[in-house]
Amino acid sequence: MEFITWKDNYSVKIPSIDDQHKHLVHLINELYNKFYQGISNQDLEKIFSELEEYAVYHFNHEEKFMQLYGFEGYEAHRQEHENFKEKIASYRANLDADNTSDVIDLLTYLKNWLLKHIMGTDQKYAPLFQKKGLK
Ligand code: FEO
Repeated sequence: MEFITWKDNYSVKIPSIDDQHKHLVHLINELYNKFYQGISNQDLEKIFSELEEYAVYHFNHEEKFMQLYGFEGYEAHRQEHENFKEKIASYRANLDADNTSDVIDLLTYLKNWLLKHIMGTDQKYAPLFQKKGLK
């Protein structure tokens, strides 16, 4: 079952970045499915840690090119990434697979944040990155 279904309008028209976004969607879907199958705290920690690490890798990738290309919205964009990382760290500190409402709250936050960010904030750098030829 898919919690988030990838749609063409999520694309920033830069294949490498779309692939990273799709992988983030995949990890959130995996967390969703495992949670509904009855996940242990150990498995929850494992997948959450993978998601957190991949998000940081992806944010660093975008930030590197924003700086390289002199993107004027860099600082505001970087701050959104930082806010996400702080929020995720606070969820992680209290995560418990038996606390259903907290896990649902986390999944809802992940979905809403990611879709809003990739359809709004990430789209702002897209024309510049495309013009620079990033694939
Ligand atoms: Fe794709 Fe700014 O995260």
